[in-house]
This record gives sequence, C-alpha cells and structure tokens, in this order.
Amino acid sequence: ALVTTKEMFKKALTEDYAVGAFNVNNMEIIQGIVEAAQEESAPLILQVSAGARKYANPTYLVKLVEAAIIDTGLDIVLHLDHGADFDICKKCVDDGFTSVMIDGSKHPFEENIKLTKQVVEYAHSKGVSVEAELGKLAGVEDDVKVSARNATFTVPEEAAEFVEKTGVDSLAIAIGTSHGAYKFKGEPYLDFERLKEIHKLIPDTPLVLHGASTVLPEFVSKCNEYGGNIPGAQGVPEDMIKTATKYGICKVNIDTDLRLAMTAEIRKHFAEHPEDFDPRKYLGPARDAIKGMVQHKIKNVLNASNKK
Ligand code: G3H
Ligand code: 13P
Ligand code: ZN
Repeated sequence: ALVTTKEMFKKALTEDYAVGAFNVNNMEIIQGIVEAAQEESAPLILQVSAGARKYANPTYLVKLVEAAIIDTGLDIVLHLDHGADFDICKKCVDDGFTSVMIDGSKHPFEENIKLTKQVVEYAHSKGVSVEAELGKLAGVEDDVKVSARNATFTVPEEAAEFVEKTGVDSLAIAIGTSHGAYKFKGEPYLDFERLKEIHKLIPDTPLVLHGASTVLPEFVSKCNEYGGNIPGAQGVPEDMIKTATKYGICKVNIDTDLRLAMTAEIRKHFAEHPEDFDPRKYLGPARDAIKGMVQHKIKNVLNASNKK
C-alpha cells in the first residue's frame, strides 16, 4: 500500500538501518528500484522533485507508483523532494502523496519555522508526513574552517528548537554532504560529532541525509570509458553512510547514483551496439543496472534487507 513514513522511520530508528529514498523520473527508474526493494523485502521511499513533476507530469508518476504497488504488494512512501513553498506541498498532499518535504533551509530560522509549521498543519490534517530541512547543503570542501561550518551546517540546539516548534516528522540536516556528482575536492569529510550531538538532543526524531550518493567509481569510469566526460566525480563513501545510520539517520537520499548507473549502461550499449535504435534495447539494460545498484545499497550499505 501507499504508506506514510511514520511506522517505517520508527522501526529504522530503533534498529539502526536506513530507508533508501530514491528520486524517480520515469517508468524504467521506478521499475528498477521497485524490483530491487521487492527482492530484498525492503521498505522503500520513492521521491519526486519539482523538476520530476515538470518533466513527467505528476499524474504519470503517481499512477506509475500505484502500478508498482499493485504489481508487487510492497509498502511504498510517495514523497515530495525539496518542496520550495506551501503551494507545491499542498498540491502533492492533494495528489495523494503520503509524505512531503518543505525545504525552508534558505530562509532565516524563524521564517523556516513559520513555513514548516504551515505545511505540517495542512499535511497532518490529511494524514501526510512532513520532512523539513535546517542547515545548508552547499559545495562544501574538505578544508572548511570551523566558522564556515557553523554558518552552514545544522546547529544542534537549533535543530531541537525547530522540531519542538514545528512538530515536523523528520529533519534533514547538513553535515557536509551536497547534491550531485562532485561532493568533495579532497578527502571526503562529514561532521559526525555534530550528527551525534543532534541525535542526542532529539533522539526520537528521524534524521535525513541528503546528497548521500556514493558516486560509485565503477559507474563513473564506465561513463568515461564510453565517451562520457565526468572527471573528478566523488561522493560519500559507503562506510560513512553506514556510520550515519547509527546516529539517527533513517532516510538516505539517492539520485545521482541512479543517474550514473543508468547513463553508464546506456553509453556502453550505444558504444557496443551502434546498430540499435529500439529504446527497449538500451532502456532495458539501464533498468537492470538501476536494480543492481539499488539492491547493493539496500543490502550492503543501508542494512535494510528484510525490514519491510
Ligand atoms: O535534490 C536534488 C535531486 O537530485 C533532484 O534533482 O531537481 O534535478 O530533479 P532535480
Ligand atoms: P545525490 O545527488 O547525492 O544523489 O542526492 C540526492 C538528494 O539529496 C535528493 O534530495
Ligand atoms: Zn536533497
């Protein structure tokens, strides 16, 4: 069934694993992810960004996710990723999403609270979960000074006050990750002391890690080998994701790894089969590549196999 995050996060929080939240934009991406979750009997969050809504038309995505549930019998959360204002959150609640993110992280603290509260009030009245964000995910480098960290990373005391005042169900925090394929210039660094402190202050609040793709080297080199040009791409090492799940991280957001897995496979297919022009010939293997990557994450990184 289409479920909220409530029970999913409660279990993840007590058992030290995390639920994978994967961004979806079309049928093959949804199918690859869902097949992996089904084989692993894993809890699953499928998330849709504003860009995905624009690309695919929200109705298509909602109906594809419904089809996946009919087909597999899985419990799936349909979540809005990075809702920028009340309006888009309301639209998604009304469209049948079971969870929405209001990302007020670019606003001053008090405004973020006000906006988040407004979304919580509406979403909760319809039985929908809400994720909010505090702190900024920017292009953080390995040599960030402590003062800069304090300016962008989540301040633990503020996180506690924020959750208390908004009644939000889960909180995305900033501890050094960023979106995309270029997360670190030098050695990867995440501020685990800060994460521990946040988790200590709000132990019952499920925390969310955005920008959590590993940018798996096998896919980067495969892209580059078959005509791509993405040098120096680097993500969050798998061990760091595992560590994060021990300190309250219940939701791990992954988009870039899906993009890379899919693109690597399609590049390889075109290079090896220039005669092909039937989309099924390359989208099929791309779907399989997504499935394999997601299954690996669920099993070996998130520790979420057999937790559905
Ligand atoms: O938060 C970023 C996600 O990867 C979604 O990306 O806005 O290009 O769909 P997008
Ligand atoms: P990645 O770019 O690391 O996949 O992060 C995705 C994300 O945080 C979506 O909200
Ligand atoms: Zn994000």
